[in-house]
Amino acid sequence: MSFYNPTELYCGSPDFAELIGSSRKKALLVTDPYMVKSGTYQYVMEPFHAMGIDVIVFSDIVPDPTIDQVAAGVDVMLSENPDVLVALGGGSAIDTAKAILYFSKKAGCQSSVYFLVIPTTSGTGSEMTSFSVITNPKNKQKYELIDDCMLPQASVLDPTLTVSVPPRVTADAGIDVLTHAIEAFVSPRASDFTDACAEKAIQLVNRWLVTAYQRSGHLKARASMHHASCLAGMAFNHASLGINHSLAHAIGPWASLPHGRTNGILLPYVIAFNSDDRGRDLPPTERYAELAVILGCSSDKPRQATRNLIRSIMKMRSDLDIPASFQEAGIRENEFMSALDDLAERALNDRCTAGNPVEVTVSDLKNIYLNAYYGRWR
Ligand SMILES: NC(=O)c1ccc[n+]([C@@H]2O[C@H](COP(=O)([O-])OP(=O)(O)OC[C@H]3O[C@@H](n4cnc5c(N)ncnc54)[C@H](O)[C@@H]3O)[C@@H](O)[C@H]2O)c1
Ligand SMILES: [Zn+2]
Repeated sequence: MSFYNPTELYCGSPDFAELIGSSRKKALLVTDPYMVKSGTYQYVMEPFHAMGIDVIVFSDIVPDPTIDQVAAGVDVMLSENPDVLVALGGGSAIDTAKAILYFSKKAGCQSSVYFLVIPTTSGTGSEMTSFSVITNPKNKQKYELIDDCMLPQASVLDPTLTVSVPPRVTADAGIDVLTHAIEAFVSPRASDFTDACAEKAIQLVNRWLVTAYQRSGHLKARASMHHASCLAGMAFNHASLGINHSLAHAIGPWASLPHGRTNGILLPYVIAFNSDDRGRDLPPTERYAELAVILGCSSDKPRQATRNLIRSIMKMRSDLDIPASFQEAGIRENEFMSALDDLAERALNDRCTAGNPVEVTVSDLKNIYLNAYYGRWR
């Protein structure tokens, strides 16, 4: 077991000269179009210009970034040869920047580029992970790149940047944080160190997510969710994710559902699957029961505690107006049924499946999809 993270974490509004040094000449800023339109990108532009750094803006980003956008960014990176790469935005902008860095390095780009990440949503924890999730629009399949070369030199957590996040995105991204932390906690690779990050993240989500959803300008709630997202990222970066993410990676892009919302729909059904085999408790039940303590719904019987945990997550999901099933999310039954075999197969082959605490077959995954489609409990 090792627990290593080379990323310097800065909370609040930084002195960029102190952070990146004064000798940098040219930056590539990978950012979401909203950041340009709203003027938020001045957060980077103004101090960088004041430091005499030339900034090239690449803002061709859409939610669930595609291979084509990454390829266009690699072209810019190779032709401009910047010595700083900055990602400013949600997980989509950050993952695009990470993939640009990954493929540029493979194509021979100089390795001394300083990589700085500034998240503007509280969800993916991508500012602290070696993961980048890229979508192939042709088959609507998500692929995870995993490489430590995508770990930033520094990440800035400034909650004031998240105040403008719309409630719908706050809810979806926030339930993603909870899913990251829970999957990391029950992972076979979990350790005391990843547990510490996951437990704190779950505590913060439980206390602050609904407040951040209902009151956008609540800075304490925003800061707490920003920290929770980062902590959950640190937890799963070392402990890995499980089938909740495998199932979400397959069905989310296919149904055009946001990543976090898809995870939130699946979460109770995945916990039920991982803890119970036709009435027999499975080993993760004890771990879920530990989480019930954090959510204030424990019981001295692990099975009951796990049921309470599921109920508690369903209550949070309903407070966040996240659908309770894929049917409720608007997926048509005939389309779902014709895609089911292929989606389950894709989920089985997803890299996250290996991190699940219980072994799965394609028919198990199909059953979880069916339960999550109809909102049924076996
Ligand atoms: N790399 C990882 O470790 C990891 C982990 C989980 C998910 N992901 C990936 O991250 C992506 C989802 O990222 P996300 O949930 O952060 O959403 P996102 O980046 O797709 O952004 C969602 C929407 O919010 C808007 N937005 C972002 N910041 C804003 C702000 N401050 N104010 C107003 N609007 C704002 C964006 O313009 C966009 O329309 C998915 O592709 C998912 O697969 C990556
Ligand atoms: Zn996620």
